[in-house]
Amino acid sequence: MASTAERGTWGSKAGFILAAAGSAVGLGNIWGFPTQVGQGGGAVFVLVYLLCVLLICLPIMMAELMIGRHAQLAPVGSYAAIRPNTRWWLVGLLGVLAGAGILSFYSVIAGWSVAYIWFAGTGAVTGDAEAVGAFFSDFTANGPLSVGLTLVVLGATATVLLGGVQSGIERVTKLMMPALIALLLVLAVRATTLPGAAEGLAYYLRPDFSRLLDPMVLLAALGQAFFSLSLGMGAMLTYGSYLSKRSSIVSAACWVVLLDTSMALLAGFIIFPSGFSIAGFDPSASGPGLIFTVLPRLFATLPGGQLFGAGFFVLLTMAALTSTISLLEVPVAHFIDVHRWPRRRAVLLVTTAVFLIAIPSALGNGAVATLGTLPGLGIDFLTVMATVWNEFALPIGGLLTAVFVGWIWRADQAITEVQLHGTAFPGQHVWSFLIRWVCPAAIAVIIGFAVYTVASA
Ligand code: TRP
Repeated sequence: MASTAERGTWGSKAGFILAAAGSAVGLGNIWGFPTQVGQGGGAVFVLVYLLCVLLICLPIMMAELMIGRHAQLAPVGSYAAIRPNTRWWLVGLLGVLAGAGILSFYSVIAGWSVAYIWFAGTGAVTGDAEAVGAFFSDFTANGPLSVGLTLVVLGATATVLLGGVQSGIERVTKLMMPALIALLLVLAVRATTLPGAAEGLAYYLRPDFSRLLDPMVLLAALGQAFFSLSLGMGAMLTYGSYLSKRSSIVSAACWVVLLDTSMALLAGFIIFPSGFSIAGFDPSASGPGLIFTVLPRLFATLPGGQLFGAGFFVLLTMAALTSTISLLEVPVAHFIDVHRWPRRRAVLLVTTAVFLIAIPSALGNGAVATLGTLPGLGIDFLTVMATVWNEFALPIGGLLTAVFVGWIWRADQAITEVQLHGTAFPGQHVWSFLIRWVCPAAIAVIIGFAVYTVASA
C-alpha cells in the first residue's frame, strides 16, 4: 500500500471542507435540483429532500469520512483493510466503477456548459422558444463537437489531478468555491428582482401535499440527495482518507452538507423566478433542457444579458469541474493505493478509459433514444445513465455503507475514530441509531416501494 507521503493530505481543514463541498456542489445542485423540484411538486419535494439529507445522508457522509480516515486508503483498500478476508471490498469496487460511470456522462454535460459560455457571451442563442430549442438540439447533435468538448473537460480535470491532493485539488477548489458562491448570490439577487419573479417563487415554495407520499417523489428525492452530496460511491470516503487525524469529522460533514444544501436551494431561487419571467415556461420540463434552452432565452431579453448569461455558464462550468475532480480522483486513488501506480500513470490511464466510455453519451446514442423523456434533444442515453446511477446505484451503495459501518465494523469502533485526540462527537448516540437502523431501513423501504410501484404499474 502507498505511504501517506505518496498519497497526500489536505493542507488544512478549511481546504478539505472546500474541496468536499466542491465535489458536492455541481450540476446536481444547479441543474438537477431545480429540475426535480419542478417535477416533484414544488415545495413538497424540497421538504422530502431536506428530510433525506438530515436523517439519511448526513449520517452516511460521516460514515464515509470515518472509513476513509481510519484506513487512509481509497474505497477498495479501505474496506479490505477494515475487514480483511471478506467480500466487503466489492462495495469499494462498485464505487470505483460508479465514479468512472458517472464521470462518463457528467463530463458531456459539463462540456456543453463550456460551449454555452461562448454562445451566451456572444449572443449566439436568440429567438423564441423554438429557435433556442432547435439551437440546443443542433448543437448536441454535432457528435464530434460534443466529443471534443468532453475531452476538454476531462483534460482540465486530469491536469488538476496531476498536481496531487494539496497543490492540485485543494488549490484549485479553494479558488473556485468562493467565486462560485459569490456568483450564485449575485444571480439569485438578479433573478428574484425580475418582473414576474413572484410567480416563480410561489411555485417554488408552494407545497402540493398530494405528492408527499408518492413513492416516485421519495425515490427521486433520495437519489437526488445522494447524488448532490457525492455519497454512495466512496468519493467522500476517498476525500476523508486525506483528512488529518486531528480534524473533526462531525463538524466537517456538517459544513459540507450545509454548503451543498444552501447552494441547491439558492439555485432554485435563480431558476424559478427566471423561468417564470419569460412567456411559456413549463417548470416540469425535464433534463438539461431546463438550463440550456430556458435560461438563454431569458438572458437574451435582459439588459446586460450576454454578461449575465456568460457568467451563469462560467459558474456552471466551475461547479462541474470541482465535481469531476472528485469523480476522477476515486479510481485514480484506487490505482495509486492498491496497484501502487505513480499518480501520473494512474491519471493518464484512467482519464483515457473514461473518455472512451464517454463517447456513446457524447454522441447521443440513437439506439436508446426512445427511452428518454425529451425525444429529439439527443440527451436520452444520458438521461438513462443518470437515472440508473442516481436513483439506484448510489442509494444502494449508501445502504451497504451504513450496514458496514453500523454492524460490521460496528458503530462504537467507528466512533473511536471520530474521538481521536480528544475530539468531541456531539450526538454520537443519535448518529449510531441513525446509521444502524434509520438509514438501512429507510433506504430499503424507499427502493422497495418504488420498485413495487414500477412493477405493478
Ligand atoms: N455531487 C455532484 C453534483 O451535485 C456530482 C458528484 C461528484 C458525485 N462526485 C460524486 C455524485 C460522487 C455521486 C458521487 O453535481
